[in-house]
Amino acid sequence: MSVTIGTPLQSSAFKVLLLGSGELGKEVVISLQRLGVEVHAADRYDHAPAMQVAHYSYTLNMADAEELKQLIQQVKPHLIIPEIEAIATQVLVDIEQQNIATVIPSAKAVNLTMNREGIRRLAAEELGLPTSAYRFADTLESFRAACDDIGYPNFVKPVMSSSGKGQSRVKSFDEVDAAWEYAQTGGRVNQGTVIVEAQIDFDFEITLLTVRAKNAETGEIETQYCDPIGHRQDSGDYVESWQPQAMTQAALEESKRIANKVTIALGGCGIFGVELFVKGDQVWFSEVSPRPHDTGLVTLASQFQSEFELHARAILGLPVNTTRHSVAASAVIYAGVDDHNLSFSGLNLALANPNTDLRLFGKPEGFKRRRMGVATARAETTDQARELALHTATQVSVQQN
Ligand SMILES: Nc1ncnc2c1ncn2[C@@H]1O[C@H](COP(=O)(O)OP(=O)(O)OP(=O)(O)O)[C@@H](O)[C@H]1O
Ligand SMILES: [Mg+2]
Repeated sequence: MSVTIGTPLQSSAFKVLLLGSGELGKEVVISLQRLGVEVHAADRYDHAPAMQVAHYSYTLNMADAEELKQLIQQVKPHLIIPEIEAIATQVLVDIEQQNIATVIPSAKAVNLTMNREGIRRLAAEELGLPTSAYRFADTLESFRAACDDIGYPNFVKPVMSSSGKGQSRVKSFDEVDAAWEYAQTGGRVNQGTVIVEAQIDFDFEITLLTVRAKNAETGEIETQYCDPIGHRQDSGDYVESWQPQAMTQAALEESKRIANKVTIALGGCGIFGVELFVKGDQVWFSEVSPRPHDTGLVTLASQFQSEFELHARAILGLPVNTTRHSVAASAVIYAGVDDHNLSFSGLNLALANPNTDLRLFGKPEGFKRRRMGVATARAETTDQARELALHTATQVSVQQN
């Protein structure tokens, strides 16, 4: 049966509850609004980006099971879209089991990907996908042993963390204790488990946006892929991305094979950001987001349907089109200062080239390394697009008031 969308703010409304209201959620909300969906947006602070374009907004601690349950009972959404990982995911598992609402893409996906251990064991041990060598450790003693076992350099990450928080690249045994200390304070929860990963010596890394959406005629869920997105990370945070990333036919096929396997295992409908490391024809699975991916912001400029529109359509059970129409790139705009109430100027210069565009997220507070906006650019080649996107981003200046 296909979806019927009612009228927002009336009894027939088709309701979606967004848990986490960042810049990626904001674009998903805009896509849902265009299809007449009633959107409820939640986050831990007021005036978060997606709240500013939703019908209703709520400020609460989503990691608190009681608060989260109450909100879901109050809103009675058809769909729940977790946009961040720090959520009381057991509540979502129960909600799905009791058929109260559909969790996007599935409670299993949200539960497994919120913790690096869950998704790594699924990918490497259950699905047999190629990954870096890894060990888990939950005491300093076992951590030292794990580091020696894996060798150097290695990557240390709290299993409950994202955006590079608490992460370090450990070059020798001398740095092991400091990496442990850092991981214990930088993760989402104190005293957590960490993963130690062998460093993969890749040529480049990609995000393969993978969409699971229903076929319009058969109603069967099918897997489709966007062209691979290349990106550059700095301190575990993406700073620029481009599409397409050139790669061998064999590596592309292997990337799709890996993405297909992992997204089928996670289940449900929606977009997934499958992060892969590539060297020649060889591909390693790194991690996966069961939602739009930050590096996929480039699709706002490169595709007929951005990753946000693809997600909105897929979760509503509607058909999608992953075709790319342009070569494009994106570059992040940081606050550069720690302050509230910032202003952005130089926009006329940034947008002087007709092949550029901007998103300013409207975050009420900036930090030095907080992403406040993104510049996109289209060009003939990815190199030209990257240059133009970076240039566009640097034209935007941030002022304190
Ligand atoms: N085993 C590894 N070998 C080589 N590079 C790695 C490895 N693990 C991580 N990296 C580098 O660090 C980056 C961030 O790692 P990862 O994606 O695991 O962290 P994250 O906190 O989830 O980041 P994000 O939330 O931005 O995706 C990777 O994109 C890659 O550039
Ligand atoms: Mg990552």
